[in-house]
Amino acid sequence: MTRIGHEGGDVSEVEAVLLAVPGGAVADALEGLEGIEGKTVIDATNRVGVEPPTGFASNAEYVKSKTNGPTAKSFNINFAVLYEQIAREKSRPGNLFVADDEARETTEQLIRDAGYDPVYGGNLENAAALEASSGRSSRAHRRDASSTGSSRPKGPSAGSGAGPSRP
Ligand SMILES: NC(=O)c1ccc[n+]([C@@H]2O[C@H](COP(=O)([O-])OP(=O)(O)OC[C@H]3O[C@@H](n4cnc5c(N)ncnc54)[C@H](OP(=O)(O)O)[C@@H]3O)[C@@H](O)[C@H]2O)c1
Repeated sequence: MTRIGHEGGDVSEVEAVLLAVPGGAVADALEGLEGIEGKTVIDATNRVGVEPPTGFASNAEYVKSKTNGPTAKSFNINFAVLYEQIAREKSRPGNLFVADDEARETTEQLIRDAGYDPVYGGNLENAAALEASSGRSSRAHRRDASSTGSSRPKGPSAGSGAGPSRP
């Protein structure tokens, strides 16, 4: 895995790009990437207090319009702070994703590699609903953490930038 941040970089040789930048920085991040055309991109962004780019219902559909490649929305409702707990669970947690048909195989593989079972939520037209659900997921997690006395998650803050491969 190669991690790319503000400095941008060349992704022409990679199999897939995981886009994990602040929800309002998607356009900037894509502009900094060479070789992104036609690439499989998995958009993990959440839009905390920001709207998708003008003319689009979701960040994921904006990404698709820029790359014209296979695109998926995944990992955005999974808290990075909980990744370490996955191996201790009796059953594998699910990971809800939406994707173009051409992006499904790669996305499902990366979801399995990360320790989840993929749960398909339809095509990219459903990305807006998945982006909207991230706020509900955060609130539910905070309620759960406070009722069990566990520490509050630090929330969306510890992921990767725009980088190829998996989280
Ligand atoms: N953390 C979680 O639990 C979690 C879970 C699901 C989804 N998410 C979502 O994933 C995204 C990233 O979250 P995070 O927690 O990983 O945030 P983060 O720790 O702040 O990481 C942000 C990354 O984005 C890069 N970045 C910021 N602005 C950029 C720009 N204009 N161009 C290119 N790269 C830029 C940063 O690059 P530099 O290293 O150069 O600063 C950094 O690598 C957010 O949309 C968040 O909602 C997070």
